[in-house]
Amino acid sequence: MCGIVGYVGPGADERALDVVMEGLARLEYRGYDSAGVALVNGHEVATAKRAGKLANLRELLAEHPMPPSSTGIGHTRWATHGGPTDQNAHPHRGGTDGKLAVIHNGIIENFHALKSQLLAQGITFTSETDTEVAAQLLAIAYEEAQDLTAAMRQVVNRLEGAFTLLAVHADAPGVVVAARRNSPLVLGLGDGENFLGSDVAAFIGYTRRAVELGQDQIVTITADSAEVIDFAGNPAHGTPFEVTWDAAAAEKNGFPTFMEKEIHEQPHAVADTLLGRSTPQGRLALDEVRIDEADLRAIDKIVIVACGTASYAGMVAKYAIEHWTRIPCEVELAHEFRYRDPVIDERTLVVSISQSGETMDTLMAVKYARQLGARTISICNTHGATIPRESDAVLYTHAGPEIAVASTKAFLAQITACYILGLYLTQLREAQAAADVPEILRELAAIPDKIETLLGRMDRVREIARFMADSRSVLFLGRHVGYPVAMEGALKLKELAYIHAEGFAAGELKHGPIALIDAGQPVFIVVPGPDTPHSLHDKVVSNIQEIRARGARTLVIADEGDDSVAPFADEVITIPQAPPLLSPLLAIVPLQVFACELATAKGLDVDQPRNLAKSVTVE
Ligand code: M6R
Repeated sequence: MCGIVGYVGPGADERALDVVMEGLARLEYRGYDSAGVALVNGHEVATAKRAGKLANLRELLAEHPMPPSSTGIGHTRWATHGGPTDQNAHPHRGGTDGKLAVIHNGIIENFHALKSQLLAQGITFTSETDTEVAAQLLAIAYEEAQDLTAAMRQVVNRLEGAFTLLAVHADAPGVVVAARRNSPLVLGLGDGENFLGSDVAAFIGYTRRAVELGQDQIVTITADSAEVIDFAGNPAHGTPFEVTWDAAAAEKNGFPTFMEKEIHEQPHAVADTLLGRSTPQGRLALDEVRIDEADLRAIDKIVIVACGTASYAGMVAKYAIEHWTRIPCEVELAHEFRYRDPVIDERTLVVSISQSGETMDTLMAVKYARQLGARTISICNTHGATIPRESDAVLYTHAGPEIAVASTKAFLAQITACYILGLYLTQLREAQAAADVPEILRELAAIPDKIETLLGRMDRVREIARFMADSRSVLFLGRHVGYPVAMEGALKLKELAYIHAEGFAAGELKHGPIALIDAGQPVFIVVPGPDTPHSLHDKVVSNIQEIRARGARTLVIADEGDDSVAPFADEVITIPQAPPLLSPLLAIVPLQVFACELATAKGLDVDQPRNLAKSVTVE
């Protein structure tokens, strides 16, 4: 969702526009539909903004160059209040003299009431946004306080909802003031220059020294200083951290798209997430899980909360965690969890899964769970994000920056982290499966090489995808851990190729979905390995026969050496053998490649699919 950049550099330098535009380009992946910048020069604020992609803004800047400056803010907007037009694009100006400019991420929930008050005072508005209300309030507060930080403090205490606000004022050159509540904001510390960003990508080209701002904090940056206070005006501080990846990690490295690159980074995402978390003897050592061991031993229920792809990682995890730990485990979409009356108490462990660590629904679910007394662990890919900070403990996935909007490598890393957590609890509680932990860890350690092998033989999958570019509907069936894989395969195809796709549990077929099958209907079937308990393999092979008899075109994903499926398959895509519970780390790969290739064949932008945002920071 909205991307935010702020910059103050040395007076002589005047490269604010370049720095801000580069930051916005690095934040494009978040998803947006308009963009703009504001620069402070002398005693003026200049703004430029345009609907559409950054290329439109660059065109405008080429036609109407902005004055050189060392202080600037920039914004990519994902429309919420008001359509994606030039007028609604940020920055918004405040005051009759227009000397103040503001950018904003989030939603100001009481903006109607505030706007009515401002209209009654004779203030006019030029956009339909909630942001312009904040701009006008700040301009009024600045008139009174003659200080941008004091004005910000006055205004944020009147706002309800979620927001990151950045403001500049013509009379305060060399200063950017920012505030955050329930929306992301990170500070980047340079030498004689300072940065602000929605995430570290905004300034990764300049510094890796970052500070995670806390909830309800205001930061004032100049070229040489960064001062933090809370909304009450008390001195405060954020949490410093070093970014572990560099600008090169956020480049395409010769791949045509970030999506292709990230699919190929999956062996590393799994290996790096496993790295350093177990002893050579096969015991897990999770120093970062700072929840009291006695509390973890007392847990009698696990609830996983997440959205989208992360929720499918949670569904895979449920099978493994329950099997190993024997603790009941539920998976719930975060936005449903927080609006019902879940049975949660201090013996519940709530595990949130989020690549970005900023998904508003997941964040609110975590806060709600804590209010109810639960212990909370965050599985997250982004250092400095809000969800880990709001949780009792965090288990970071080490997938590296995921730039493509649709998730791939983060999914595999999330599943891996869930396995680690499940095995850790198994070991800690001395569950029956504890003796198997070293062997399961050995099997897990072998997975990255198997993914590498699999990626090396995706030519046929790509051919099938190109051949199917005109498909109108594709179905996905799976059973046991293959069920969430089917759901994720369908989601990838919807997101990337805009094709109707649905994932079903194969056992559900005869309860309705089989009515969808007619001549030529393509159906992917994720077949459980022959070792999967309860003859599930044979049951799914029967399902393949049932749909084939009704005309379906069957595209079967099966273990190498599983010859039983060939007679009933139009295509067999084989994956290396792995223990059934770990097989999702392999089975999803051909489905990701299929969706990516099909969308590419349709000429679609696989990195930034229409209407989607990378991190959904509003409800
Ligand atoms: O950042 P998060 O993992 O919390 O994001 C959750 C979902 O919004 C995300 O997985 C979404 O479904 C992606 N578009 C999937 O490709």
